[in-house]
Amino acid sequence: MKKKEFYDLLTSVPKAELHLHEEAVISKETINKLHKENFGGTMSKDALKGLFAYSDLAGFLDSFITIQKFFTKVDNLYYITDDLESYLIDNNISYCETFFSPTSHLRKGWEFGRMSQILADGAEKIMRDTGRTVRYIVDVSRSFGVENAQHNLDLVIAAKNPYIVGIGLGGNEEAAPARDFQSVFENAKKAGLHVVAHAGETVESWSMKDTINLLHAERIGHGISAAYDEPFMQELAESRIPLEISPTSNTFIGKYVKDIKDHPIRKLFDAGVNVTLNTDDPTFFKVSLVDEYWNVYHNLGFSLDGIKQLILNGFNASFISDEEKKRRSDEVESRWTAWFQGHPQVKL
Ligand code: ADE
Ligand code: ZN
Repeated sequence: MKKKEFYDLLTSVPKAELHLHEEAVISKETINKLHKENFGGTMSKDALKGLFAYSDLAGFLDSFITIQKFFTKVDNLYYITDDLESYLIDNNISYCETFFSPTSHLRKGWEFGRMSQILADGAEKIMRDTGRTVRYIVDVSRSFGVENAQHNLDLVIAAKNPYIVGIGLGGNEEAAPARDFQSVFENAKKAGLHVVAHAGETVESWSMKDTINLLHAERIGHGISAAYDEPFMQELAESRIPLEISPTSNTFIGKYVKDIKDHPIRKLFDAGVNVTLNTDDPTFFKVSLVDEYWNVYHNLGFSLDGIKQLILNGFNASFISDEEKKRRSDEVESRWTAWFQGHPQVKL
């Protein structure tokens, strides 16, 4: 299928995104607006280029935190919920679970309760404007230690925000092992929250094993190192634990894969692993969700049936009820069929 037709098909079918950092949907307009508010002028081209130049995970995370520092007033967070709304519309994402990382903001003295209210306002506005559903996963982060992660969790529990459905563990996997966060994850589960964690992004499969066996994470962010441990990959396929894979992000970070054509998502999918497709940080990696579907279709030989399966996997790996999964999967099937009926010249 040609690129133009593929984009038309993929935009017409509703999709889920489960691994998306909310701050990383920031638009260039928002960056400029914040820069103007803080420093009285737009950012120079070179400074902007420098902000988005990195060759490993640590370098990328520095830029991520720099962007968070651009937000000087808590109400600036409304800019991000507006950018999220545009991103969801552009990609026809009808359901998303997006990460929010509060630690840098808490260090500025912002109150979690106010941030939580802005997140709720954003989800409600997006639902009102577009009928799209947003849920949040608070990234308690492995980069700032266990105490900080537990403090983030305590704030989430106290906020009782129905739009926050779980916690996640982002940050530098090489610097802080999953096992350190066992008690935080146990406490989150006891409080009725869902738990997910980044693992196997830049560390071998032992990190994923710890994340599954010790943290009991319900989904793994990235998880690509499983592809280099065949027995574990088979176990993963049997367990049905979903992986949230972001091929362009992995290629930028460059630890396991430097060219999208070598990305192991196809190997994992063919081995029966429960794979979902995501962007991670769209503005930082210059990629949208529809681009990411095109990337795997074009470069890794996914069939159109495979593409539809990835879309369905997204809804089925989410934290919605079984009834809602069925309703959203039926909608994918009917939109998919309708698109082909409207384009009889295009063969499956
Ligand atoms: N925070 C935002 N993106 C991330 C990534 N790819 N890995 C770890 N932490 C992150
Ligand atoms: Zn991530």
